[in-house]
Amino acid sequence: MTESNVKSGCKKPSGKLAVLTIGLGAVSTTFMAGVELSRKGLGKPIGSLTQMGTAAFGKNDVCQKKMIKELVPLADLNDLVFGAWDVVGEDGLTVARRSAVLNDRDIAACADFLKAIKPRPGIHDPAYVRELPVDNAMKAQTAAEKVAQVRQDIREMKKELGADRAVMLFTASTEKYHKPGKAHESLAAFEKAIADNDPSISPTMIYIYAGMLEGCPFINGTPNYSVDLPAIQELAKKQCLPMGGKDLKSGQTMMKTVLAPAFKARMLGLRGWFSTNILGNRDGEVLNDPEAFHSKEVTKTGVLDTILDPNEYPDLYGDYHHMVRINYYRPRGDEKEGWDNIDIMGWLGYPMQIKVNFLCRDSILAAPLCLDLVLFMDFARNQGWHGIQEWLSFYFKSPNVPAGHVQENDLFIQLTRLKNTLRVAAGEAPITRLGLEYYGDDLPVCDK
Ligand SMILES: NC(=O)c1ccc[n+]([C@@H]2O[C@H](COP(=O)([O-])OP(=O)(O)OC[C@H]3O[C@@H](n4cnc5c(N)ncnc54)[C@H](O)[C@@H]3O)[C@@H](O)[C@H]2O)c1
Repeated sequence: MTESNVKSGCKKPSGKLAVLTIGLGAVSTTFMAGVELSRKGLGKPIGSLTQMGTAAFGKNDVCQKKMIKELVPLADLNDLVFGAWDVVGEDGLTVARRSAVLNDRDIAACADFLKAIKPRPGIHDPAYVRELPVDNAMKAQTAAEKVAQVRQDIREMKKELGADRAVMLFTASTEKYHKPGKAHESLAAFEKAIADNDPSISPTMIYIYAGMLEGCPFINGTPNYSVDLPAIQELAKKQCLPMGGKDLKSGQTMMKTVLAPAFKARMLGLRGWFSTNILGNRDGEVLNDPEAFHSKEVTKTGVLDTILDPNEYPDLYGDYHHMVRINYYRPRGDEKEGWDNIDIMGWLGYPMQIKVNFLCRDSILAAPLCLDLVLFMDFARNQGWHGIQEWLSFYFKSPNVPAGHVQENDLFIQLTRLKNTLRVAAGEAPITRLGLEYYGDDLPVCDK
């Protein structure tokens, strides 16, 4: 990376970057193991835009391409170091073996690395997550004591890992759905609620609050609404820290946000979309609790309306039935199988059907998203960008957007926005793909 394509203020990262995950489960251990195997040359980071992707820049006739990691200054994989909290005390190796995402050969190749990742006690509150064999709960009792403990953990982990900066990644079990209330409306009210040990302060909120006080950007890979809260947004601004969420867009929703824009592009109508899937990992076990599932349901069902815009196209999308189901089915483990039945309509309203059967691997899809988000969030902090990083909507099922902005869920519009943000940060012009570069300012018109 030469300094010439780095905009002033876009600092090149140096030193170790601590990735602190909240929850040391299937997703986080698959992510960590994948980073280690990649740096040993034993696997390729497939699915990661930062490691495999390119971005074009310049005019179409002199268009060039660069690897994204060369276009903007991102931390190197060799500089990533890992720490975690979990309410279950298993080390990374035990979790990876139990989760059975990676095969024995891959786990053996990074066994020492995984074994060294021992989670610090996590914040357990059965009002938010129930279905877990908890044996490593933080001893602190009140919300204020828990904040102090998480802050101390961050300082100690950074010291132990030799890192001077850290990013927090939330990959813990899905919390039950709770409506935000008065305590979340402003930072002052939120801080008072912490001091009063108010039960509406969830474990996630304690982690994010403590993390931001310690200068950590925050990524919410799960459906809880912590990043949406006005109090947290105020804090991010005050601390000048970037953040983003919510819920990684890994499998079924990723497909949905590819197919729905295609129907809309062709002005094909939608009568119904039924999505169901089976999975048997611990995430599936937690989601078996209807209140935890409701959090997921909210992030999974929101995408279609924003893409299809039923108000604008009532004849096509004014009355579709959208249903999402997740079924815990133990034999399947992490190898989730998803089915989508899509009822569309064409010319004169004639009905047609599309069936999608996605035999995926949940954590294999989620791991590269974790890596990209960590590197981009660190990049955003180094740029001085703060608050919700809308340009990272590409990675989320229900992307957080600043107040007054409309959520964008079309995967390819999200990708264009992401790459344009990087182009501009690198001092290049955004690419619109209008094609006007070929014609000058006007389309060619016949003289006759
Ligand atoms: N795999 C995917 O494709 C995908 C996609 C989107 C979102 N997610 C979300 O990512 C999260 C992690 O998924 P997973 O498959 O790794 O689940 P997992 O059950 O394997 O891991 C979650 C871990 O979080 C721990 N935990 C629970 N509450 C905690 C707390 N308060 N503090 C610290 N640790 C806590 C659990 O003990 C467990 O080890 C889930 O919420 C899931 O819904 C996963």
